[in-house]
This record gives sequence, structure tokens and C-alpha cells, in this order.
Amino acid sequence: MSPSEKVNILLVDDQPAKLMSYEVILSELGENLIKANSATEALHHLLRHEFAVVLIDVVMPDLDGFELAAMIREHPRCRRVAIIFVSAIQLSEPDFLRGYEAGAVDYVPVPVVPKLLRAKVRVFADLYRKTRQLEQLNAELERRVEERTAELAQANAELEQRVEERTHERELALAQVHEMQKLESLGQLTGGVAHDFNNLLMVILGNLQLLRKRLPDDSRLLRLVDGAMQGADRGATLTKRMLAFARRQALRPETVDVTKLVQGMEEMLRRTLGPSIEIITAYRPELPAICIDPNQLELALLNLALNARDAMPQGGRLVIGGRYVASTADYPKELAAGRYVCMTVSDTGAGMDEPTLKRAAEPFFTTKGAGKGTGLGLSMVHGVAAQSGGLMRMTSMIGEGTTVELWLPVSEAVPATDLLQPAVSVAGGARSYRVLVVDDDPLVVASTAAMLEDVGHVALEAPSAARALDMLRHGTSVDVVVTDHAMPGMTGAELARHIKQTWPNLPVILATGYAELPNTEDPGLPRLSKPYLQEELAAQVAKVVADPATNVISFDSVRRA
Ligand SMILES: Nc1ncnc2c1ncn2[C@@H]1O[C@H](COP(=O)(O)OP(=O)(O)OP(=O)(O)O)[C@@H](O)[C@H]1O
Ligand SMILES: [Mg+2]
Repeated sequence: MSPSEKVNILLVDDQPAKLMSYEVILSELGENLIKANSATEALHHLLRHEFAVVLIDVVMPDLDGFELAAMIREHPRCRRVAIIFVSAIQLSEPDFLRGYEAGAVDYVPVPVVPKLLRAKVRVFADLYRKTRQLEQLNAELERRVEERTAELAQANAELEQRVEERTHERELALAQVHEMQKLESLGQLTGGVAHDFNNLLMVILGNLQLLRKRLPDDSRLLRLVDGAMQGADRGATLTKRMLAFARRQALRPETVDVTKLVQGMEEMLRRTLGPSIEIITAYRPELPAICIDPNQLELALLNLALNARDAMPQGGRLVIGGRYVASTADYPKELAAGRYVCMTVSDTGAGMDEPTLKRAAEPFFTTKGAGKGTGLGLSMVHGVAAQSGGLMRMTSMIGEGTTVELWLPVSEAVPATDLLQPAVSVAGGARSYRVLVVDDDPLVVASTAAMLEDVGHVALEAPSAARALDMLRHGTSVDVVVTDHAMPGMTGAELARHIKQTWPNLPVILATGYAELPNTEDPGLPRLSKPYLQEELAAQVAKVVADPATNVISFDSVRRA
């Protein structure tokens, strides 16, 4: 109620003349005046409107003023109304008291003094208005306090939720760091073991190969040697996977057209997966080329396809897809800035439950039983993707299937027209070269030397890079150097740099399966990946010596330098 709002005033008297006179007196107040000729009519009005003041004649025929006042007071809505009695007769003390008990607040004697009546009514009307205003203010205040309390409660709840979220994020991040540290140390361990094993396999394979050549033509003996060689080969595949997981694989990234690469694999995949598995390829058009080692990508896809096959013993569908994801908002947040292609390999197989999915990419984790799975398949895929600057992630649902995503960096170079390396024929026989073999492992040196000599080259041996440089400085004539990379003192890559400075035309082949040397070190440096077969060694020697970019140096030039 505003300060200027009118209030209702009820005038009750059975004599119309008196009612009129009250009306005239009070009209000056500017309030709403409502008249009632009887108590009944008054009650009628009281039920319909709210009144600030009721002016009642004490003596009325139907109900006397006191009774009417008592009835008014009984009604909850009228408890606050001010009741003023107008009395023409002389009232005694007990009458007054009766009136006050019935709820009167004041008396006005007749004859009415207009000024007095006006003053009294004005006071009560104003009091009523002020009370209402106060009540309204109070209600407003309460509403505001309530609002503020609600706001505070909400802010508090939000704060609590944020604290909870933060704590959860922190816990997740810590768990991730822990997981990464665990994988990192596992990687280092695996990488180290694989590196040593590679050297051993190198020796076993090299010697077996030479042994096979020198065996008498006895098929039983040959079978035994072949068995041993197959075993060593399997070992080599294993160490490759371990190195891939440890991200220590010597990668040779190229610009790769994914569509072509998968096309090239389709026939092999069909044979490997069998007729019960349908293979579908689905690419978005204009898929940009990616930058990755194509052999490793093939191996990774093969590993994924084999996992899919194992998950679909009754057959099913394998979908290999690729799409370019333009919006970086859709990238996994772990990816570095750049453009990426997302390759997917999905199957309709058994799927994985939550704990299996969580551990699937852990090295040596397998559900396939001892002797069946190595648990290195996904580790290899994960390692290759990460080492290539991308990542692998998986989603799976029990009974529905599994999807593996490989996010791989887009190559900024022009796509290679042909991914296949030009075949290099196995050399040997044609020309004999002097090959300096450098390796800190005497068994590796011996077996490599034996392989070289077997194809007609002359092998010179050095147990360290320093010794190799010594030999060259002292005029040992050499056509090509084959060196290990990880050696105490000076690494193979450092040796190659020294040689390039002093004898720029002497070709160096880096033999390593272990990529401690950054892939950026010297991309032009010819490499041999350990363990290598005799054919690969001979072919690489023939290739680098024949390559016009690395002119063969004459014995004299070595001597002069
Ligand atoms: N497509 C898939 N569907 C269901 N489970 C899968 C799938 N791929 C992987 N897994 C689960 O993850 C585990 C680890 O896979 P990973 O390829 O690393 O090793 P593996 O397949 O067991 O052994 P290997 O690769 O040497 O044959 C599997 O044993 C299997 O439980
Ligand atoms: Mg596997």
C-alpha cells in the first residue's frame, strides 16, 4: 500500500440523516466512505472489503453496536480494524468497559464535533495505512532475505561442486601421471631388453644362415636349421613389437596415402582373417596424406585386424576407415597442435568390459592365455602412434564390438607416388668391397663379418668408433662402413658425422633396431634394422656404394685424407 492510497471507512447507523452527516464531515479526508443502515448490512460489507475504520452507532434496532463490534473482532480479517463508537445516549462506566472489551478503540459523543471526529478517524486511517506499509516492507525484506539465502546456498553448493570437480580432476591427473610413469619405466626396461635381444638374434640368425649354406644337402638337417631360423625370426618380431611399445623403434616416416596403403593390405587381410569376416573400407573423400613409417602403420593395422579376428570367432565385420578432422575442437586434448587424420578399425566382436579396456594397451596384458597372446599387439600400435606424433584410443562395448582410433599427423609434403621401395637386388659376386664393421659386441661383429665374407666382400673389424676412426686415419682402405649405433664412448651417428667431415665420400650404414638416436638426426643416413639378414646387409652395401650421391672413394683418397 502506497502512502497516497485510499483506505475504506465503514459508517454504520440506522438513521440515514446521521449517516449523511458523517459522510459530509469525513469526505474532507479523501478516503472511501461506505455506508450501512444496519448491522446486517455492515457485516455484509465487512465480508467483502477490508476496512481501516468502522464508525458504529451504539444503539441500533437489529443488533446493538457492542454485539456488532464483537462479531467484527471475531473475524480474522477484521482483527485490526479500528472501531469507533458514536453514542447519542449518555454511557455509563460499565458501558464503556463493555465497548472496549468488544473491541472498540474510541468513543465519540453526540452531538458530534466534526473536527474531533475527523481528527480521530484520520489518526486511525493513517495508522492503518502505516501498519500496512510496514507489513509490506517487512514482507519485502523477508523475501529479499530469503532470496539472498537461496543465492548464498546456491553459491555454496556451486563452490562445493567446483571443489569436488577440481579434486576429482587432480586425482585423475595424478593417476594419469602415475600411469605414464609406470609405462615410461616399463618402456625403458622393455626397450633395453629388446635391444640386447636384437643383438643376440642377429648373431643367431646370421650364423644359422651361413650354417645353412654350408650344410650338406640333407633335408633333415636343413629342416632343423630352418626351424631354428623360424624361431629366431619370431623372436625378432617380438623384439620389434617391444621396441615399438618402448617407442625406441627406428622409424622412417614418409608421406603416406592411407587409402592406397590399406588397399595394398586388403588381399593379405582377407587371407589372414578368413572368409567368415567381411572387410569393409570406408574413407571420406579428400583424405590428406599422413606422415608415418608405412611399414609400421601396416604392422599396426595388421595387429588391430588380428585382435578383431580373435574377438569374432564366429565371424563378423571389420571396418577400416579414415577421416580428416578439420575442427580442432574434436581432437583428443592430448594431441599437440597440428592437423590430424583419424583412422578407425572397428569390429563387431565380443568387445571388452571396463577393466579389460583400461588395461588392454598395457604391455604384456593379454586375455588370450599363456602361449597364445603376447599382450604386445596394442602396446605396439600405441607406441607407433605416439612415436609418430599421434595417439591411439579405444572404445568398446561388451557384445557390441570395439573401435580403435589412430590419430595420425597430416603430412605437409606432397604424397609419395609409390610407397614401395625400389627393389634392390642382392649383391655379392659382382664386386668385392672392403667393409669396415663397427660394433662393441664381438659376436655381432663376427657374424656380420662372416655374412659379408660369404658374399665375397672383405670384412674389417673394429670394436669401437674410436678404433674405426684410428684405422681410417692410419690409411686402412675402406669402401663402406657398417656401424652399430649404441656404443660406449662414441655412438654410430657421431662416428658417421666424423667420417662425413673428413672423408665426405665414404658411405656409412647405421645398423640399429633401437632409435635412441632422434629420428631427425640424419634422415639421409642409410640404415639397416637389426636383426638383419644376409640379403638385407648385402643389398644395403651394394646400394650405398652404387649410389651416385655417395661416391665410392678410392683406396687412395682414404689414404690421402
Ligand atoms: N578388438 C578387440 N576386441 C576385444 N578385445 C580386444 C580387442 N583388441 C584387444 N583386445 C583385448 O586386449 C588384450 C590385449 O591385446 P593385445 O593385442 O595387446 O594383445 P593380445 O592380442 O592378447 O596378444 P597378441 O597381440 O600378441 O596376439 C587382448 O588380449 C584382448 O583381451
Ligand atoms: Mg593382439
